[in-house]
Amino acid sequence: MSEPIVLGIETSCDETAIGIVRGRTLLANVIASSVEEHARFGGVVPEIASRAHLEAMIPTLHQALKDSKISLKDIDAVAVTGGPGLVGALLVGVGSAAGLALGLNKPIYAVNHLAAHVSVDYLTHDNPLDPTIALLVSGGHSSLLQVDDITGSITKLGETMDDAAGEAFDKIARVMKLGFPGGPAIDKLAKDGSASAIDFPRGLTTSNDWQTRPFDFSFSGLKTAVARYLEATPDYAKADVAASFQEAIVDVLLLKALAACKQSGIDSLVIAGGVAANSRLRAVAQERCEKAGIQLRVPSPGLCTDNGAMVAALGSLMVSAGRSPSPVAFDADSSLPVTTVSLR
Ligand code: KG4
Ligand code: ZN
Repeated sequence: MSEPIVLGIETSCDETAIGIVRGRTLLANVIASSVEEHARFGGVVPEIASRAHLEAMIPTLHQALKDSKISLKDIDAVAVTGGPGLVGALLVGVGSAAGLALGLNKPIYAVNHLAAHVSVDYLTHDNPLDPTIALLVSGGHSSLLQVDDITGSITKLGETMDDAAGEAFDKIARVMKLGFPGGPAIDKLAKDGSASAIDFPRGLTTSNDWQTRPFDFSFSGLKTAVARYLEATPDYAKADVAASFQEAIVDVLLLKALAACKQSGIDSLVIAGGVAANSRLRAVAQERCEKAGIQLRVPSPGLCTDNGAMVAALGSLMVSAGRSPSPVAFDADSSLPVTTVSLR
């Protein structure tokens, strides 16, 4: 099937999201977020997220069908995030998707949320997605991947030893009282600051680190350095701190991503996950990739953060590649490794 109509359901965290694609054409992308219900806790509360998914699922489905102007019977396959994520949240999506697939008598693809983040690029750029190096930077994960085949062959080159990049943004934003999630707030504030005002540390970039763990990340030292700076400088310039902190993250992410391209001989880089929406990361990536002769692909900001289109995109790729669907009964896996593209 060259242009399958695939409905994708995403509920791994606080977004109840449904996307519908026809082949690589996006037909609908509806997101109901419970982020405001979590904001006062400074992070996502799993129980609240699960309940919000239950309430939002049917209205979100109806809206997606309406936007796409298709009816349920037109759907060729259902895709759903099978992991990783909050287990109670995943189960709402998985139960809904299994019910739909059974009712419609269509195959179901339970796919990896992280691989889906990377595969959303399939909807925006015409050239083949793989092979590519992928820098995956979200609230829960930060890793460098070699993607030989997005539907089945992903190798992890490195990952964060402590916080994820998005988590670092969220934690620093919390200390600076900028609200939750912190990434967009820091991104905005940094535009009025100087990226070179404060020289914050770049984790795992000593010559020894380049020898032993070239593609791993660490953001805990940076986090501590920023917290110490804030304590020691009561009248700190907020925008300068935001810009300098952001620069330290962007710099190290791109140093390592470009080094991975060079070492693997792959001259293509996809940047995916919520942090890929960061405007400074996008701008510096563009500059450095141009200089290095690397083809850069970053999905539009709205497709970087969690959405259903990315799940539908990976489902569509799975169908086109002739990959076998998941069994009707499968377990959501809250710690599904990035190398497992789909649940069998
Ligand atoms: O991929 P995502 O939507 O959810 C997870 O799978 O984790 O990523 C959410 C993360 C949050 O930590 C959020 O602060 C960060 O992405 N984020 C950003 C920006 N937009 C979202 N970080 C930096 N700059 C942004 N513009
Ligand atoms: Zn995500």
